[in-house]
Amino acid sequence: MSYSAADIQVWMVSNLAELLGVEADEIDIDENLENYGLDSAQAMTLVSKLEELLGFQPSPLLLWHYPNIASLSQRLAEELEEKSDVQDTGIVKQTINAMPSATPKGNASEIPILNLQSEAVLDPTIHPGGATYTPLDKPKKIFLTGGTGFLGAFIIRELLEQTDAEIYCLVRAASLHDGKNKLQKNLEQYGICQNALDARIIPVIGDLAQPLLGLGAEVFQAFAANIDTIYHSAALLNYVYPYSALKTANVLGTQEILRLACQIKVKPVHYVSSVAVFESPVYAGKVVKEDDDFSHWEGIFLGYSQTKWVAEKLVKIASDRGLPVTIHRPPLIAGDSQTGIGNTHDFINLMVKGCLQMGSFPDVEYLLDMSPVDYVSKAVVYLSMQKESIGKAFHLQHPQPVTLKFLVDWISSFGYPVQIIPYDEWQAELIKNASSPENPLYTLRPFLLERWSEEQLTIPDLYLQAKRPTISCEATVKALAGSSITCPPIDSKLFMIYTAYLIESGFLSVAL
Ligand SMILES: NC(=O)c1ccc[n+]([C@@H]2O[C@H](COP(=O)([O-])OP(=O)(O)OC[C@H]3O[C@@H](n4cnc5c(N)ncnc54)[C@H](OP(=O)(O)O)[C@@H]3O)[C@@H](O)[C@H]2O)c1
Repeated sequence: MSYSAADIQVWMVSNLAELLGVEADEIDIDENLENYGLDSAQAMTLVSKLEELLGFQPSPLLLWHYPNIASLSQRLAEELEEKSDVQDTGIVKQTINAMPSATPKGNASEIPILNLQSEAVLDPTIHPGGATYTPLDKPKKIFLTGGTGFLGAFIIRELLEQTDAEIYCLVRAASLHDGKNKLQKNLEQYGICQNALDARIIPVIGDLAQPLLGLGAEVFQAFAANIDTIYHSAALLNYVYPYSALKTANVLGTQEILRLACQIKVKPVHYVSSVAVFESPVYAGKVVKEDDDFSHWEGIFLGYSQTKWVAEKLVKIASDRGLPVTIHRPPLIAGDSQTGIGNTHDFINLMVKGCLQMGSFPDVEYLLDMSPVDYVSKAVVYLSMQKESIGKAFHLQHPQPVTLKFLVDWISSFGYPVQIIPYDEWQAELIKNASSPENPLYTLRPFLLERWSEEQLTIPDLYLQAKRPTISCEATVKALAGSSITCPPIDSKLFMIYTAYLIESGFLSVAL
């Protein structure tokens, strides 16, 4: 079937409007799609419908180059034409991707390499130089981002317990009332602050993706003058979008946080980064320590990881300019080790549920790179309060991670019928099974199947243990030695706590 750019444009406008629950005339074809705030699931629903319409799977990477409906429709129409030319001449192009429904276009070989180093430029006016700095033992006013997210909720819990401070939480919402409700709902969801929002939690309506955090000059100045310390946990976590779509919130948002920290008076920034900053293959097989340099960016393919690398570089530049910072690099964050409550939309849970639904896990050497959220949040808050932490990075890696096989064995012993099958077979199963939104792995398909790097590996290929560094957490464990904070072991007791929550919340059913 042939469609013109105009046909595709009309189709996209009406489908996007339907997804967002707005009228078609409210959709601007020149607006970046990322600004419509689609989450991974919505983005994939759109992509999947497009796939049906066009008869091939458009690469999510196209969004990098063609970020709005106008340019994307034009490019998709060209791709359709190229495909029909190929069919007309009877030439079957050898695609580098051999899988049946995998992406034939937009593969890594066609994508210009993004130089992350050249992205890591901090506005030269962000400098703590002239501002005053009085280190405080007990901050009175804390500014927190990400309070409506998973880790942020637990950081709030810790800050409520460990300080007497007011916690000003940056929230994306239409009004203070909505912002308060959003924070309250999130804290309730994670078993924190039932009933009413603690009076010390104060919503601040803004947006990381806007200059001055969307606060306006006056309010921004007022916070710059009055806040004592900053916890920056917010980020757009999306495994589908490319760097360009995540840059505004994750990179430029971090720059605005550093601006806030340097203006009028110096405020320490406690930044939640990720072990993903060591994703470059240069680190494969090496042990990386907390104070190791993370100068290598080549070969980091995931847009989200790329933004985390650049954002942490900005924090490092600010630190080199004299801003007091602490950097916290969690691995995947798992549920609360006491209650089991976790984020059911996260990678681990979607993967487990999706594999259970498929009845198989891949036979791969993969370490379960996860730490419970209560450990991560307690460690972040404790370490942020130690004077000797300033200027340092911490690895919240689990000190004794276990293998994926350990988890699968436990799942089998629990009674779920699962088998471990060769990775290639599992990928083929995934293509068959995850073709509808009913499968939790559906939204992760681009992440799981897209081929990158010169060797055309998928992201999970790149995450195999042999291709990753060992993240040492020795210095972090040492720094926590004076506290009672230890990382709970990953064992059957922990899995039982998690499973009980996942079943109770309806995410998993007892019989699959
Ligand atoms: N979860 C993990 O496994 C993991 C692993 C390593 C590192 N990390 C890092 O840990 C931090 C917290 O992750 P998480 O799991 O808590 O993520 P999450 O549950 O997805 O929460 C993300 C938070 O960021 C906020 N946010 C996103 N874009 C924003 C914007 N433009 N303006 C204001 N706020 C915005 C979200 O607000 P809305 O509610 O408005 O969307 C939400 O509060 C992130 O920096 C992440 O990179 C997470």
